[in-house]
Amino acid sequence: MKEEDISRVRIMRFDPEGNPSGSFQEYSVPFDPESTIMDALYYIYTHLDGSLAFRGSCMHGWCNVCMLKVNGKVLLPCKKFMKKEMTIEPLPGYPVIRDLIVDHSVKRVPVRKRQNELKKN
Ligand code: FES
Repeated sequence: MKEEDISRVRIMRFDPEGNPSGSFQEYSVPFDPESTIMDALYYIYTHLDGSLAFRGSCMHGWCNVCMLKVNGKVLLPCKKFMKKEMTIEPLPGYPVIRDLIVDHSVKRVPVRKRQNELKKN
């Protein structure tokens, strides 16, 4: 694959048993400007690393369960197109269960603050 056809994706990995302090892992995925960030995550899960944990449900921006921090911005990866360089982290303000999955039952961040962040990004 040529360099211009690749997206470099850095993902924060966390495993309470195997990697409790967390660390970034980098993956190279085929770059397609019409594919979403969620598509890139599924590519990694399906073709590169089946141990990657993340959430997705409606894939249309309705349920908000996929919310992540990508390149410093909180957004819905099912609604945003992938970039050539992406740093993906779990949603800030919640305890991380594993990799990109957080515990939404702990309401630490006001819903209105999250909605405002999504509108901005
Ligand atoms: S999967 Fe439902 S909003 Fe992204």
